[in-house]
Amino acid sequence: MKRAICTVVTLFLIGQMTSAWGFPWNKDFVDQLAIKAQESLAPAEPGSTPVAGGETLPALPADISEEEMDALKDEAAAVLNPIPASAESVARGAELYAMTCVVCHGTEGLGDGPVGLHFDTKSPVDLNEDYTQDQADGSLFFTLTRGRALMPFYRDALNVEERWHVINYVKTEFGP
Ligand code: HEC
Repeated sequence: MKRAICTVVTLFLIGQMTSAWGFPWNKDFVDQLAIKAQESLAPAEPGSTPVAGGETLPALPADISEEEMDALKDEAAAVLNPIPASAESVARGAELYAMTCVVCHGTEGLGDGPVGLHFDTKSPVDLNEDYTQDQADGSLFFTLTRGRALMPFYRDALNVEERWHVINYVKTEFGP
């Protein structure tokens, strides 16, 4: 008799468990913003901070003056280049330079790339000159990260490591 009651109770409980699938909390995962293949990610909230990687850059005013930009670039000289200018780094920098910089600065760094020749008001600088060669790596990193006047920024095309490789290439390959 006891066994029969036990069986009935167990069967009743199993029945309850199965019907529990119908309760709303089982659908919680369905009712959410899902990103389908080929869809772009939901835009980040303005002002949110990425927790995994990514760069957080303080916004610069759109009307920042040349002097203010120079001051920030000088401050950035304190940022030290973490990647030694090894043969591998310079070789990688050469590839990246060819992909991203040659169009304006030219293969020899003279500022005479096919796009660079079309600049009217100011040409891309000659990277061989002291003006660039005397700058600290951190200042060059600042320029690649933030851009400068007519030069776009390259933080989207080159990740942090790649920017240092390009700098190692510019410092090793060009200059007197
Ligand atoms: C679309 C054309 C263009 C591309 C591509 C470009 N630059 Fe420039 N670059 C310029 C121009 C124009 C200037 C001068 C900006 C100014 O002072 O107005 C400049 C200036 C510079 C300077 C001097 C910044 C200073 O301190 O005044 C450096 C260094 C430099 N570029 C490096 C690079 C490197 C390295 C790359 C590749 C990652 C690159 N540029 C890609 C156009 C370009």
